This record gives sequence, C-alpha cells and structure tokens, in this order.
Amino acid sequence: MSSTHFGFETVDERDKARRVRGVFDSVAPRYDLMNDLMSLGLHRAWKAYTVLVANLQPGQQVLDIAGGTGDLAMAFARKVGATGRVVHTDINEAMLRTGRDRLLDAGLALPTLVCDAEKLPFADNHFDLVSVAFGLRNMTHKDAALAEMNRVLRPGGKLLVLEFSRVAAPLQRAYDWYSFKVLPQLGRAVAGDADSYRYLAESIRMHPGQEELKTLMKNAGFGHVDYHNLTGGVVALHVGIKC
Ligand SMILES: C[S@@+](CC[C@H](N)C(=O)[O-])C[C@H]1O[C@@H](n2cnc3c(N)ncnc32)[C@H](O)[C@@H]1O
Repeated sequence: MSSTHFGFETVDERDKARRVRGVFDSVAPRYDLMNDLMSLGLHRAWKAYTVLVANLQPGQQVLDIAGGTGDLAMAFARKVGATGRVVHTDINEAMLRTGRDRLLDAGLALPTLVCDAEKLPFADNHFDLVSVAFGLRNMTHKDAALAEMNRVLRPGGKLLVLEFSRVAAPLQRAYDWYSFKVLPQLGRAVAGDADSYRYLAESIRMHPGQEELKTLMKNAGFGHVDYHNLTGGVVALHVGIKC
C-alpha cells in the first residue's frame, strides 16, 4: 500500500481522490463567494495575470484542467474567439456544473468534460496552451498529471500552473495565523464547513515550493520552466514550455 498526504494527514493513495472529491462537493455552491472573501478579491488579479502571460491569439486551442467554476476558461474563451476552442474540464461534477452554468449565463457554450488530470482523454501534441489553477495541489500523482499535460501540448506549447506556494519569510507568521485561525472560521460561517478550509491551509503547506515544482515540471518533460511569484509568494505562476 502506498501512502500520500491529505492535508497534514497520511492516507492511503487510493483514498485521497475520494477525500478531495468530498471537499469540492461540499464547497461547490459557495466556492466563488469564498474565493473572493478569503483572498480579499486577489484571486481575480492572480488570474488576470495568468491570462496576460497566456498571451492567447484568436483561433488557438486551450485546455483548462481542474477548471472548476470556470474563471480562466471564461477569460481564455474571450481571447481565442469563435475560431478557437477552450475545453473546460474538472474531475468534480459539482464544480464543473457550477462552472458550466456560469459560462452559459455569460453566453459561452464551451466543451465541458469530467476528467482526471492524471489520465487525460486527449490526443498527443494538440493544445497550444494548458492551464491548471489551484488544482495541482489536490492531485494524488502530480508527476503523472504534469506528464499528461506535457503529452497533450503541441511542441512549443505552454503550460501555466497557478498555485499557492511558499510565502516570503517576513509574511510567514501573519500568513500562518490567517490560514489556520481565520480561514476555517470563515469557512464555517460562510460555507458551513470549517474542515474543507482547514484542508486548504494544510494542503498548501504540503505542496511543493517554487523550486521543487520547477524541478517536477522539468522531470515531466518541460524543456524550459520559469516562475513568477505573486503577492510575496502566496501564489506562484509556473510557466513550462514543451520544447
Ligand atoms: C480550488 S479548485 C480550483 C478551481 C478553478 N481552477 C479556480 O481557480 O477557481 C480545485 C479543483 O481541482 C479539481 N481537481 C482535484 N483533483 C483533480 C484531478 N485529479 N483532475 C482534475 N481536477 C481535479 C477539483 O475538483 C477542484 O474543482
């Protein structure tokens, strides 16, 4: 039996995906409101920066993995226009349904697919851009998921990984206090679920830091990898190019 982390808990590898599904089934209805509250709206700026770095052109093919309620898919769809295509995917049906409804309300009917990032149902060398925002942290085999992202990208294509990372040392104490004291209380008050937001804080601590993730991406086959720290390293945007 192999074990892995679910937050600070050590669990059987076969159990992690089920536990993660429980978290996102629970938070899906209040996910967008909670995102705005707990990041004080900053997630919008982090995503806007990701869209800028994506530098998409009309007609391009994009895959958004762990796309959840569809923020990035919506912004990307506007960039690639009617001649391009954005595929909106997630392993969790509740998150994906919420996202699909939002996209339809915004006048965007995108191909929407339940799929596991570790086994992507797409051909090799297809997409110009693959993105995963705040999703990689939740995956059991990050190496397998990154290798799949590399496989479906065309040579020269770009992977964008937006994820919580290691904060700069001067911010550490305040960030820990906020994560472990404020976040679960906010989760309890707004979403009726403290545990899922405790998992969020713990999973961030267990996720590879900036340099470690860069190495994972290189090992998965990305020829060039760089990262941009945002908000003092609270979040990092890793950019991988398939060479
Ligand atoms: C924090 S949400 C991020 C949603 C959206 N990308 C955003 O930035 O708002 C994380 C998402 O990762 C998805 N996820 C977790 N494990 C996954 C996997 N193995 N494959 C695909 N999606 C996964 C969850 O279902 C959840 O919707």
